[in-house]
Order: sequence, then C-alpha cells, then structure tokens
Amino acid sequence: MQTVAVIGAGQMGTGIAQTIAQHGIKVLLSDVDLARAEAGFAGIDKALGKLVGRGKFDPAEAEAILARITPVGDYAPMAQAALIIEAATEREEIKKVIFEAAGKVLATDAIMASNTSSIPITRMANHSPDPARFIGLHFFNPVPVMGLIEVIPGLATSKETTERVTAFAEALGKQVVLSQDEPGFVVNRILLPMINEAVFVLGQSTASIADIDKGCRLGLNHPMGPLELADFVGLDTCFEIIKVLYATTGDSKYRPAPLLVKYVEAGWLGRKSGRGFYDYSGEAPVPTR
Ligand code: CAA
Repeated sequence: MQTVAVIGAGQMGTGIAQTIAQHGIKVLLSDVDLARAEAGFAGIDKALGKLVGRGKFDPAEAEAILARITPVGDYAPMAQAALIIEAATEREEIKKVIFEAAGKVLATDAIMASNTSSIPITRMANHSPDPARFIGLHFFNPVPVMGLIEVIPGLATSKETTERVTAFAEALGKQVVLSQDEPGFVVNRILLPMINEAVFVLGQSTASIADIDKGCRLGLNHPMGPLELADFVGLDTCFEIIKVLYATTGDSKYRPAPLLVKYVEAGWLGRKSGRGFYDYSGEAPVPTR
C-alpha cells in the first residue's frame, strides 16, 4: 500500500499513523478539523523527538517518518488512499457519521477499516459504501510498541479484504489474531472484565490501588496492574467497551463497576485527563486511594 488514511488523531490514531509511517507508507491524518490533526502530528513529532534523544532513531530517520505524515482537514484527499482506518472516539454514532462521509471518497478498490475495540463490525459495515470491503483492524496501545493486531471480518467482509489487511498488518511488523465478530473480539473480551473486576475490588475496599496493581504485576507478571492499565487506556474507553459487552450479551457479569461509572462522571478519565485511579500532576503517578 502506498497511502493509508487515519481518521482520529488521538492516542490510537497518532500511534497508528506513526507506525505506518515508520514502515515507509504515506499517511493522511485527519480529525474533526485541521487544527486537531496538526496537534496529533505535533504529538508524533514529540514522541519521535524523545526516541531520538534516547538514541532509538537517528534524526534523519525521524524526519523521514514525519515527512510521510500529512495532517488533513477534510476527507477529499483520502480518495488516493488504499486503506482508510477509522480510529475515532469509541462511540458508534460518531463512527457511523465518519463511515458515511469518508465513504463518499473511498476509492473503488480501497478498504475501510475500524479500529473499534468492541463495536460489532457487521453492524457498522452497513454505514460504509461496500460491506465486502469493510473490516475491523484493532491495534493495541502503545501502537508502535505492541506486537498484536486483531483482524475482525464482519459477516459481509470478503476473503480478499481479510487477506489484504492481514498482509498490511504483517508488513507493519505485527502479528495477527483473527477473530470472529463477537462482542469484545478476543483480547478485550478477556481484558475488560479483569479491569472492571479490579474496580469492584477497589470499590469494596478489599485492597488499595497500589496493592491491586502490585498484586497483578508481581502475581501475574503483567507489565502494568489493571488500574494503571485502565488509566492508560482511558476510563471512558474502558466504560464504553464494558457497556458494549453488557448491552450486546445481556450478561450481568459485564455490568460496569459503580466506581468506574463515578470516575467517568467526575471526568477522571486516567492519564489523558491528569487524574484517574492515579494522579499524574507530579513527576510520578500517585495512587488516589
Ligand atoms: N515508538 C517507537 N518505540 C517506542 C515508542 C514509540 N512511540 N514508545 C516507546 N517505545 C519503545 C521504547 O523505546 C522502549 O524500547 P526498548 O525496550 O528497546 O528500550 C520500549 O518501547 C518500551 O518503552 P519504555 O521503556 O518507555 O516503557 P516501559 O518499559 O515502561 O513499558 C509499556 C511501557 C510498553 C507501555 C508497558 O508498560 C506495557 O506493555 N504496558 C501494558 C500495555 C498494554 O497492555 N497495552 C494494551 C492496552 S489494551 C488496548 O490497547 C486495546 C483496547 O482496545 C483497549
């Protein structure tokens, strides 16, 4: 693929754009307006700058990566993209509007993919111009570092579309897990109940934030405890995913932990808002309970 478009210049969209550009492919990066797309681009510049500072990239390589990324203010330039990846907020009504608008410029042989963490692909495909060329392509955060991409064909997705995006994912140096279009796919179906349960454990005062995370880091050898990871993913995103699991299965085991709901209502969304289960205002994160 020569050009790929990424819609959504937040944490996931910028990670996806950086990773694609690191593999020699041109990227068009968009958001609700050009200013937000440019802010995302500036974030990638900063992340690459840090890596240059740590000797991971030489400055010329970082320059070349950045030069492959173009922030755009509308969808028209995406007519040249072989693949459009939607990585917007995890809300179906927002994504539908994007598929309909970007679908108007989707080239006749191009693929439209969603980085959704949990929303059914088959249902969203109906808002794209051709459900046979619509698929789930689920990246993990931080995208440049994590080795996995889940590929999720919907009911109408063609075999060719699945093969093309699998080859694309592998060309990014990632390994692929193929998942049927079931709620939460594979990884989030397992991860989100764990995070939600950790919040129940905290809500019942079974242990402190620090001890819940320490328990899972040392007892399970996870790189981050579930509450640190929830802050990292974003508590609003965690809430949206667990709600989808609950709504699509009707199974009470997925009911959101009341404390998670309260944190989201308070605007304590994790790292991105400066406070979640930890406070990020100082040098190192401090547990808030
Ligand atoms: N681009 C390229 N490389 C990068 C990078 C970037 N933007 N950021 C970091 N790296 C590299 C670093 O250079 C470093 O490389 P070396 O090991 O060669 O030195 C490596 O990545 C690790 O980075 P750090 O040393 O800064 O960080 P760390 O060792 O503390 O690890 C972490 C940080 C990778 C985030 C680790 O804590 C971790 O794996 N946490 C769990 C992450 C996780 O579970 N993610 C999945 C979330 S769920 C999800 O995303 C799906 C969903 O839908 C909700």
